[in-house]
Amino acid sequence: MDIHSANECTRCALSQTRTTVVVGSGPLHAALIVIGEAPGKSEDEGGAPFIGRSGQLLFSLINEELKMNREDCYVTNVVKCRPPDNRTPLAPEIAACAPWLEAQRALWSGQVVLTLGLTAARVMTGSKAPMKDLHGIPVVRHNLTFVPTYHPAAALRQGPSVVAVMRADLAVVRGLLS
Ligand code: URA
Repeated sequence: MDIHSANECTRCALSQTRTTVVVGSGPLHAALIVIGEAPGKSEDEGGAPFIGRSGQLLFSLINEELKMNREDCYVTNVVKCRPPDNRTPLAPEIAACAPWLEAQRALWSGQVVLTLGLTAARVMTGSKAPMKDLHGIPVVRHNLTFVPTYHPAAALRQGPSVVAVMRADLAVVRGLLS
C-alpha cells in the first residue's frame, strides 16, 4: 500500500473519531526508528507523533543518551489514529493498521528500532512476555533489531525508577548504533 494514502484511511472505526491520521515524522533513512502505541490528544490535533508531554520526555532522554534529536529519528506508532480517551488500541485496530506499518518498514533503511510500551513491544517482537522481561533485550526480526523499552507515559506516571530503566535500554540502543 502507498503510505501517502494513509491520510484518507477508513480501514477501522478510529477513522470516525480521529482529527488527523498521524502517519510518521522524520527521515525514512534515519539510523534509529522509534515506534509508539498510538497518537494521543496533542498528536491527533498536531498531526505528528510524540509532540505532547510523553514526546518531550522521550526526546530529552534520546538527546542525553544517544546525542540525537527528534529530526534524526523516524518516529511513528503501531496505530496511526487516536483511540478515544487514549485507550489501548484493540486487536482489530492494530490488524487494520498493520499494512501501513509494513509499507513504512519497506521504506526504512535504518536497522535499529526502539519500541515504546507493551503494545509496540508485543506487536513488533511477536512476544507476549511482560515488559519487565522484554525491555533492553534486542530482538532481530524482519532484518531489523528491535529494542523494547517502557512508554514515556509510564515514566511520567511512575517517575525516576522507570526513567533509569529507559536510560539503560537506550544505552543498549547506543551500542547497536555504534
Ligand atoms: N503516545 C504514543 O504512543 N504515541 C504518540 O505519538 C504519543 C503518545
